[in-house]
Amino acid sequence: MTARNGDGSTPIVYVEELSGHVGEGVVIRGWVAGTRSSGKIKFLIVRDGTGLVQGVVTPSADKETFRLAEELPLEAAVKVKGTVSADDRAPGGVELAVEHVTPVHIPNEEYPIAPKEHGVGFLMQRRHLWIRGQKQMPLLRLRDGALWAMRAFFKERRFIATEAPILVSTSVEGTTTLFTVDYFGRPAYLSQSGQLYLEATCAALGKAYWIGPVFRAEKSKTRRHLTEFWMLEAEMAYLEHEENLQLQEDLVRHVVEYVTQEHRRELEVLGRDPQVLMDEVEGPFARVSYADAVEIVRSAGVEMEYGQDLGAPAEDALSEHFRRPVFVERFPVSIKPFYMKRCADEPGVALCADLIAPEGYGEIIGGSQRVDDQQELEKQLREAGLAEEPYQWYVDLRRWGSVPHSGFGLGVERTVAWLSGIHHLRETIPFPRMIDRLDP
Ligand code: 4AD
Ligand code: MG
Repeated sequence: MTARNGDGSTPIVYVEELSGHVGEGVVIRGWVAGTRSSGKIKFLIVRDGTGLVQGVVTPSADKETFRLAEELPLEAAVKVKGTVSADDRAPGGVELAVEHVTPVHIPNEEYPIAPKEHGVGFLMQRRHLWIRGQKQMPLLRLRDGALWAMRAFFKERRFIATEAPILVSTSVEGTTTLFTVDYFGRPAYLSQSGQLYLEATCAALGKAYWIGPVFRAEKSKTRRHLTEFWMLEAEMAYLEHEENLQLQEDLVRHVVEYVTQEHRRELEVLGRDPQVLMDEVEGPFARVSYADAVEIVRSAGVEMEYGQDLGAPAEDALSEHFRRPVFVERFPVSIKPFYMKRCADEPGVALCADLIAPEGYGEIIGGSQRVDDQQELEKQLREAGLAEEPYQWYVDLRRWGSVPHSGFGLGVERTVAWLSGIHHLRETIPFPRMIDRLDP
């Protein structure tokens, strides 16, 4: 959609639309991302959230514009009027022959983030500005694309998008990573996962999912842990373990296909080869039991005992071994939450799977079939040392029309890290929350 400029004749367009306007006069509204001079010509790099374009200012532009082009500081807000020309060497394939620059806001202080290397601490402290950076913008656009693809996948499969509360009175994923808040004089927690609520919703709607923020008071300071992150959770009635894995595999493949088709530009700026991702999801995902995974991890020289959770080195060893997404199934029940159904042929292991991404991006999905028998659930609650009272409503789901059901939770930031090839989760969300980071 193009709007009209103030002079009534020149269309206002976004940088990403410029290639459709070659030879035409347009106005771009954005911010100065860089300037340089070469003899009598000045170059103005302008970004507008959809991309970057180079404006070329020659002495044939009006005097004021020529003077401004010399002096505009980084992050000055400007409207730039010019004619679009095709240029194969330019990113996006176009340049702008600038005719006039209208300043909107000219900072009178130097922009704190210079176009040079800064330490991560320095940048994180200025995250509110850093998100304007040339790598951050495509990352956030890619995140949007991945989330869009997830929603489209579930819409297509006729899942209902729903919600789960954030303020809760119970734990889902163990009591050690709960954030407590004062709820009118009694303790409440920030939800670790919407799963228990989705189990209720799926008995009402059949197929349900939500995408929402969840919270973990993780003491771990690693590149894979945030204290607030976004989870996509899906839950489906009458869905059994095998079908659950197929659903996850289809979802992940769909997201990869979508972003590698629709976000080539972003992937290119990020230096991520889309072919690598496409190759990784081309064939069926690998599957391994936890017990066999332990052997693989050990033979890669990583110390691990049966009964320990998969740490980062173990996950890395598995992704190195399989080089495509791998489901690790049949975890010992001692390291999995109370709600997981047990394997009929081996009650010591859970009917569950974690999906480990390739290339060392770690576990991106955790899922399982759920206990659907009331007595069994009550027993597993007791074994987990959880008070039964706050879970009464959850037990109720097993009293009236209980059916086999399964679901999973996908970590949005870990998935975006893998898709984008970004090492640390902190860059995959606009304002990350970590053990040592609550600002900005
Ligand atoms: O494996 P998790 O803990 O599973 C659950 O919470 C289930 N209740 C989900 C369900 O079945 N509905 O978390 C799911 C995913 C992980 O695989 C991981 O990708 C991500 O959430 N995740 C984190 N991401 C960032 N920071 C953290 N601290 C994370 N903890 C888990
Ligand atoms: Mg997990």
